[in-house]
Amino acid sequence: MGTAAGPADSDLVRAARGLPVSRTPVWFMRQAGRSLPEYRALRAGTAMLQACQDPDLVTEITLQPVRRHGVDAAILFSDIVLPLVVAGVDIEIKPGIGPVIASPIRSVADVDALPALEPDRLEFLGTAVRRLVAELGATPLIGFAGAPFTLATYLIEGGPSKEHARTKAFMYAEPAAWQRLLERLAVSAATFLRTQVDAGVSAVQLFDSWAGVLSPVDYATRVLPHSRAVFDGLAAPEVPKIHFGVGTGELLPLIGDAGVDVVGVDWRVPLDEAARRVGPGYSLQGNLDPAVLLADRETVDREVRRVVEQGRAARGHVFNLGHGVLPDTDPGALTHVVELVHELTAS
Ligand code: CP3
Repeated sequence: MGTAAGPADSDLVRAARGLPVSRTPVWFMRQAGRSLPEYRALRAGTAMLQACQDPDLVTEITLQPVRRHGVDAAILFSDIVLPLVVAGVDIEIKPGIGPVIASPIRSVADVDALPALEPDRLEFLGTAVRRLVAELGATPLIGFAGAPFTLATYLIEGGPSKEHARTKAFMYAEPAAWQRLLERLAVSAATFLRTQVDAGVSAVQLFDSWAGVLSPVDYATRVLPHSRAVFDGLAAPEVPKIHFGVGTGELLPLIGDAGVDVVGVDWRVPLDEAARRVGPGYSLQGNLDPAVLLADRETVDREVRRVVEQGRAARGHVFNLGHGVLPDTDPGALTHVVELVHELTAS
């Protein structure tokens, strides 16, 4: 009785904490999604943000990559903008573009008009997570939220952007309103994560995808305190915390300061160098270039071996891509990577 290994003893949770593992755990950002024909079939006719609020669809889409690839973790099918949508912000996810906001935040008054997220509107989320935890057994489920800065870029730009110039201009011109905006987004992210933790997720990841556009000093003073507030507000020491952004090479020494166990690294910095930059107290997640999966098998194998070898420099290594799976990726390449990483690291 009670001896069966559960998700709390999984290789994912152990690697995140820097404990010995049976083999390096593997999962892929955006593993659920357009690279899978079974996903495209199930999603047909349902808008992205509708699908995210349907517990049946969330459960099935989340399980698809676990069944197909044998990954070591599921990631909840949802989106970083969902807490805003549930709170009442008018947002649409346009296929091939990303989130588009009907009335972007352009003034201090717009910041103060941003609606708060009421936790009792997240019942669908708790239902989906509880169902998934029951279905997944010993496989851990990763919950997630968008970090305050990355959400602010969508709210201020009105949609995806490259330079995030309006966002930075607002940050410099309206420091007090900027702080209020990020504080509110931190509360909303913590509420979104709290529902997932209460319903049983085994780890959480905060996506600060676009933080890499900031200088270290701006990141440290105007952004990082709000990401830290998400984790502090969540107050869940039992759940490992992963913090990820793209282009964060210069921010790596800072990113762990959000109070996390794992720092996610994109493909630009090799993991042995990343381990030096983050210091000894953290595990690493990453960092195969997603574009490598579009290349020939020999290249894939060489790059996977390199990432596995360089990952040995870290306290613990969770194998992942450096960013999300590209839609054109052959699903067979993903399954192959899982098998190869397991083979290379079996103890
Ligand atoms: O990783 C997973 O498999 C879990 C699900 C997940 C989605 N979005 C589903 C999704 C996760 C973790 C996210 C996070 C997310 N959403 C981020 C952070 C991660 C990152 O990529 O940096 C960001 C920036 C968003 C905002 C967003 N949502 C973008 C930029 C897009 C892509 C638009 C497009 O069509 O290319 C989305 C839509 C989205 N979110 C899709 C999926 C599966 C594709 C929409 C569809 O299938 O119709």
